[in-house]
Amino acid sequence: MAPNFPKLAGQGEKYLDKQLHDIKSGKRQVLEMTGLLTNLSDQDLADIAAYFASQKGSVGAADPKVVARGEELFRGGKLDQGMPACTGCHSPNGAGNAAAGFPHLGGQHAQYVAKQLTDFREGNRTNDGDTLVMRSIAAKLSNKDIEAVSSYIQGLH
Ligand code: HEC
Repeated sequence: MAPNFPKLAGQGEKYLDKQLHDIKSGKRQVLEMTGLLTNLSDQDLADIAAYFASQKGSVGAADPKVVARGEELFRGGKLDQGMPACTGCHSPNGAGNAAAGFPHLGGQHAQYVAKQLTDFREGNRTNDGDTLVMRSIAAKLSNKDIEAVSSYIQGLH
């Protein structure tokens, strides 16, 4: 609906189900969703996750000015700083790994992606598990890096 809200169509079922539980319990704070899930059962959340996972996602476009830098980060990471490439978990075409619960990123709104990466970096989103997988990756990304990789992801398919 809006570039700051995530596209859910085609997102992995396992990932969606986890996020719904995290948002319901407050482990992941999403102000706009406060209270919305309170009265939904585990089965309701599982049904919602299955529904969105069965929908077909859409793709946007990358900004040509930053696409090269974005691709470099997505496919190569920052080896000098020990930051792995995004492809390792989110797959080369951005489809993620549904079975492992690694989210689908390809085509996602750049504005939403940038907010998530910034939130992971600043410690405002902390539901990425005990390994801090996304927090430790985002810690290595500058604002310019985040802008580039988010734009690249918006056009990725
Ligand atoms: C080692 C595996 C791994 C690597 C490498 C990785 N990610 Fe992730 N990423 C994850 C996992 C797992 C999650 C889900 C965390 C959770 O459960 O909330 C995630 C979540 C995300 C999200 C949130 C998606 C959403 O819909 O809210 C974004 C954005 C993201 N990653 C971007 C990236 C980018 C960009 C890179 C490369 C710079 C990257 N990731 C590298 C595993 C990884």
